Amino acid sequence: MNANSKNKFIDFYGRNFLITPDVLIPRPETEQLIDTVLSLAGKPFLPGIKAEKPKLKSDFSLLDVGTGSGCIAITIKEELKNAKVTASDISEKALRVATKNAEKFNANINFIHSNLLENINQSFDVIVANLPYVDKTWDWLDLDSLSQEPSLALFADDHGLALIKELINQLEFKKPKYLILEADPCQHQAIIDYAKNHGFCHQNTRGFILSFIPH
Ligand SMILES: C[S@@+](CC[C@H](N)C(=O)[O-])C[C@H]1O[C@@H](n2cnc3c(N)ncnc32)[C@H](O)[C@@H]1O
Repeated sequence: MNANSKNKFIDFYGRNFLITPDVLIPRPETEQLIDTVLSLAGKPFLPGIKAEKPKLKSDFSLLDVGTGSGCIAITIKEELKNAKVTASDISEKALRVATKNAEKFNANINFIHSNLLENINQSFDVIVANLPYVDKTWDWLDLDSLSQEPSLALFADDHGLALIKELINQLEFKKPKYLILEADPCQHQAIIDYAKNHGFCHQNTRGFILSFIPH
């Protein structure tokens, strides 16, 4: 990876991540995905908040599908040191950025190059995914503001739901204990309905973040 004037450092959950033109710029709404995982692990994520009873053992396994810069996977590993964290992406360039970020934090993450779950053989306690969900036809979309980020990280067919639905399909025979997905709130009901028909029951919504458990 060449040093490039377009490379920058962006804050995510209080840590600075290297961001290049090959990866999505982490968004504040994704930080609530971290809150959701911390809450399942019984770790208070706001000052003064009472710890919930952990729903996961401390060495739970987690897969971050579509890791991009690695901001989700690395933050979870930093916050929950005993978690066994794997992160995947279809983009080899993104995985190189994520690997750099993991090295920066000395975070032990297993990176896998994979189209969704194609090259993933093991099962996980938790699967998280902030997959591309932007629908190019949304009339409120400002395409210019997204022009610095890879299309591969942003857009999906089928009203933005194609990859999320495909991930849910692929999980049918290896369901995690918790599936946590980011999507625009306008897509939430469609995802909840789809997941319900494919073995997952909606448990919780936090901002852009949906949590499911198998039923
Ligand atoms: C919205 S970005 C999220 C990046 C990062 N997780 C974050 O929250 O900032 C989506 C990521 O999914 C990856 N991606 C797109 N299609 C994929 C696929 N079929 N399988 C795995 N990853 C995919 C993209 O390369 C991109 O890094």
